[in-house]
Amino acid sequence: METKQKDAGTPILVTGGAGFIGSNFVLEWLAAGKGPVVNLDKLTYAGNHENLVTVEESPAYTFIHGDICDAALVKGLLEKHRPRAVVHFAAESHVDRSIHGPEAFLRTNIDGTFTLLQAARAYFGSLTGEERDGFRFLHVSTDEVYGTLEPEDPAFHEETPYAPNSPYAASKAASDHLVRAWVHTYGLPAMITNCSNNYGPYQFPEKLIPLMIANARKGKPLPVYGDGQQVRDWLYVTDHCRALMTVLERGQVGETYNVGGGNQRSNLEVVTTLCALLDELSPESPLKPHKQLITYVADRPGHDRRYAIDARKLEGELGWRAQESFETGLRKTVEWYLANTAWVGSVTSGAYQQWVKQNYGTREGIAAEETR
Ligand code: NAD
Ligand code: DAU
Repeated sequence: METKQKDAGTPILVTGGAGFIGSNFVLEWLAAGKGPVVNLDKLTYAGNHENLVTVEESPAYTFIHGDICDAALVKGLLEKHRPRAVVHFAAESHVDRSIHGPEAFLRTNIDGTFTLLQAARAYFGSLTGEERDGFRFLHVSTDEVYGTLEPEDPAFHEETPYAPNSPYAASKAASDHLVRAWVHTYGLPAMITNCSNNYGPYQFPEKLIPLMIANARKGKPLPVYGDGQQVRDWLYVTDHCRALMTVLERGQVGETYNVGGGNQRSNLEVVTTLCALLDELSPESPLKPHKQLITYVADRPGHDRRYAIDARKLEGELGWRAQESFETGLRKTVEWYLANTAWVGSVTSGAYQQWVKQNYGTREGIAAEETR
């Protein structure tokens, strides 16, 4: 299904633009006046077109409800819209879901990326002159492909060997390898970015930060896996979107760029900081101090201990810098979730409840009725 048509200018094709990072990217791109966007999204549980309500009437925005695994659809879209770039976000993105059901991850993340690469290759082959010189395929990937770090290990850099540990990470690693091969073998002008944990508005409340905010607001347990000492390197989503725009504009074909905020925090630190922010920003709450809700639960199987990103290549070669500190970004994020409880309510109805039961209902440390 396709809604509406574009205005003047050469569009980009975004996949997964109704998800967390994709919708932030589409909003930033259109606000910056960088040209039209065609957004192909299957609208899985993680895709919410409500995120894009402010642009859905814009002549610069076209939405296509469809699957990246649909080769005929993707081919037709490229031929019709003739984009100057493909920015590929669409994926199954949640590690816990990949542990419970890896099939969808292999299908979308591997087969879907393969389908897109084949279509982009055929389309690129049909281009000539400036259209051909300017075309880019940007594959949005993750630091999880590098595996896990010990406390004293240096941060992941672009030459760190791949060692994915979860079905999600393995499927993303496979997709990165496909992109690399399509550059090397077929000359597709692609680039890869590997980013650390994002946070910010529109993140689905299955991920650590929005889950903790949503649970704390309802007085539910805040489920910390294992000892809570696992470390992630947090990046505000808008900084990631700016990094992607930078790579699209100035990145070298065939290169990989690591993206990270330089904000390593243990999960327990993140959750206690969130609790303190909630105490401050909702002083009327009878649940204060929110940290009383912290509950240790059984660990995630195969849980990676630490991620950290060395972003010096992106900073040094392309001049990107994160603008948001963890403190300012987290405050903005909590304020956004407190101001958008209707959004949280709408995305956590229905199937979300089933997921909460599946992931938390059987974990040691949390009673079944507390997951409701
Ligand atoms: P998300 O789960 O919030 O959104 C994924 C989007 O893809 C949804 O809109 C969904 O409907 C769409 N989608 C899923 N399967 C599809 C299919 N077969 N066809 C078309 N659309 C489909 O994900 P996110 O957190 O926004 O992540 C976006 C990308 O960035 C992913 O590739 C992810 O691996 C990568 N990434 C995420 C993070 C993070 O911290 N969230 C960090 C680094 C990299
Ligand atoms: O590193 C980049 C990756 O970050 C992205 O590629 C993934 O798409 C994204 O989901 C994220 O993966 P994580 O597994 O790190 O994110 P998540 O928010 O699920 O978990 C963050 C940490 O918090 C992790 O160590 C597990 C822990 N956690 C998570 C949940 C949902 C808990 O302790 N309790 C929870 O309930």
